[in-house]
Amino acid sequence: MTSRKIIIDTDPGQDDAVAILLALASPEEVELLGITCVAGNVPLSYTTKNARIICELAGKTDVLVYAGCDAPLARKLVTAEHVHGRTGLDGPDLPDPHMPLAEGHAVDFLIETLRSHPAGSVTLCPIGPLTNIATAFKKAPDIIEKVQEIVLMGGAYFQVGNITPAAEFNIYVDPEAAGIVFAAGVPIVVMPLDVTHQVLVTRARNDAIRGLGTPVGTAVAQMTDFFERYDREKYGSDGAPLHDPCVIAYLIRPELFSGRHINVEIETASELTLGMTVADWWRVTDRPANATFMGSVDADGFFDLLTERLARL
Ligand code: BDR
Ligand code: CA
Repeated sequence: MTSRKIIIDTDPGQDDAVAILLALASPEEVELLGITCVAGNVPLSYTTKNARIICELAGKTDVLVYAGCDAPLARKLVTAEHVHGRTGLDGPDLPDPHMPLAEGHAVDFLIETLRSHPAGSVTLCPIGPLTNIATAFKKAPDIIEKVQEIVLMGGAYFQVGNITPAAEFNIYVDPEAAGIVFAAGVPIVVMPLDVTHQVLVTRARNDAIRGLGTPVGTAVAQMTDFFERYDREKYGSDGAPLHDPCVIAYLIRPELFSGRHINVEIETASELTLGMTVADWWRVTDRPANATFMGSVDADGFFDLLTERLARL
């Protein structure tokens, strides 16, 4: 398998952090061209800092980390400190980063990088609100054909919503951006809550990660310990859902996931259902399919992969 060139667009976030670590641990499958940060779980000043903290934790100080958009296209930023803590990376006590941010804006990095690659050769991995990606597509529509695939975490069908009764956080924060991305005509793979809520960090799974006995294993265990308190209270579930790492796991082991190629539209008008991913799971319309919307995952296979890869760092 040749490694896929990817860009991770992210708002770390403990689960974003684990996704970044999984990518950094998997160079045979993914070549990380850079990390573009966006405001989401916490403001941009934290997401840019957290991405660098994670790269340093993994000993990968040469990764390009860019600051991107600090607010959604047309709305006030909504954040999720109630889930992720004040810093977005609450849990472990990790040092401030030494590595600098890369110079320039994340959107310009996206545009320049895509322009310098052949058509269909770079995979975008958005795991936060879609503001950076949509801004790049609007500013430079010529880059759209350079995208091989967008594999993103966002949305829900059967689980409906987490930030509102009808919407998942990443899509809700910037629904206009999501609308642009889903209409771009690029192959899209969606990891919705329907899948990520199957990937729960149970006590035994977290003990296995902590048991690696490495700084990375300890930090990930502490992050998920922190992150899970919210989901335990809310859902009474067995542990925290590891949303964002599903995106990277898919690039490494696509066979762990299954879903349907269907039409997905984004609600941008209704106050009540703003940011809803209207997924035609049952194919009751004749709207054209624009995304592969995942519905199930082999959770044990996912955690075997994650634990094995984290052990490498
Ligand atoms: C998504 O929102 C954030 O809280 C997580 O990092 C994930 O990307 C889940 O709804
Ligand atoms: Ca995220």
